[in-house]
Amino acid sequence: MIKDITAFFSKNALNMKRSEIRELLKVTRRPDMISFAGGFPSPETFPVKEMEEISCQVLREKGALALQYGPTEGEPAFREELAKWINREKATIKPENVLITAGSQQGLDIISKIFLDPKDIVIVELPSYIGGLQAFSAYRAKMIGVPQDFGGMKMDLLEKVLEKLAKKNRKPKFIYVVPDFQNPSGATMSLERRKKLLELAYQYEIPILEDSPYRDLRYAGENVPAIYSLDTQNQVMVLGTFSKILGPGLRLAWIVAPAEWMDRMVVAKQSMDLCSPTYTQLIVAEYLRRGLLSEQIEKIRKIYGRKLEVMLEALERYMPKGVEWSKPEGGLFLWVTLPKRLSANDLFPKAIENKVAYVVGSAFHCNGRGQNAMRLNFSFPTEQQIDEGIQRLAKMIKENL
Ligand SMILES: Cc1ncc(COP(=O)(O)O)c(C=O)c1O
Repeated sequence: MIKDITAFFSKNALNMKRSEIRELLKVTRRPDMISFAGGFPSPETFPVKEMEEISCQVLREKGALALQYGPTEGEPAFREELAKWINREKATIKPENVLITAGSQQGLDIISKIFLDPKDIVIVELPSYIGGLQAFSAYRAKMIGVPQDFGGMKMDLLEKVLEKLAKKNRKPKFIYVVPDFQNPSGATMSLERRKKLLELAYQYEIPILEDSPYRDLRYAGENVPAIYSLDTQNQVMVLGTFSKILGPGLRLAWIVAPAEWMDRMVVAKQSMDLCSPTYTQLIVAEYLRRGLLSEQIEKIRKIYGRKLEVMLEALERYMPKGVEWSKPEGGLFLWVTLPKRLSANDLFPKAIENKVAYVVGSAFHCNGRGQNAMRLNFSFPTEQQIDEGIQRLAKMIKENL
């Protein structure tokens, strides 16, 4: 009998970290809990009726295809419609540049798998998306965090890091950024910094990984061009997803990358799941073909834009002095910073007692910092819950000041 199975596990497996958020979601499912913790879209945005009708049509007309295995790269009809959609921003993407994945999370895993050996360096934002950190650490990469402010990663600091690494003859495998309404902070990288990022990436010859699930969810302000749309040297990989604009249950997302980078990605995906679900690809292909997505995004913008307003108003009304928060122009999250002496980690059990949940800031920091910060989600709770939840949070913070 095997007494200790861990002795058999790979170093990679032992290095994998459990997602604090996924664990947390178990607690937050309690009915009386107001949860600002997850990154769930609101079910009221799901286009259930249209999906029902299109699903029936797909089964009726293409049942044999829909329930069959498909190509690893993705269903041709879907890749084609998707490339058209993506080309709203850059007219040069061809279906061959698009790989369909089971969520962007799989995209992060595929990219980590093909680029990262143990101890390889990945540059990340401070704070950064937890699922990205999780994927990179599963392949035992060394993450170097570069601080950001509300205008995104600070390019002067990135430049210093790259200079220092170059002196030691070390080259990061890629620079990972979430430039639009970042998860977790809500920050959007300015155009100037996007240009500077490309300049540095060209100078030091480093790929950029642009992960942008919230790009279409802008509620205020002016659009900033996507980094890949400014790229002239074919050095940017992009992750996009239907999770936040249609429904995460579809598990449909995409990687756009230069065609020569694609082959290894396809091979990596083959050993993961052979192909993404043909059924949902055909449904979304038809959804796109009918031109329904723009209207759907408009609907979501209205709902979340209003929820964001409600959260900002509630923070203004209830939070004590010394507490600060970001004011995003889109996305699903905002970032609250507590006075230095308060730890969001220490307060967490008290928040749960008070039936309100958030994610601690430290979960998003590859360097363990961010103890006095928390991420709040505003897409999932109702407007009434947002107001009530912020009241509970503010009361608890006041009691602990
Ligand atoms: C920045 C970022 N990347 C990737 C993902 C994963 O999305 P999915 O796998 O649902 O496409 C998320 C989800 O919240 C995210 O915020």
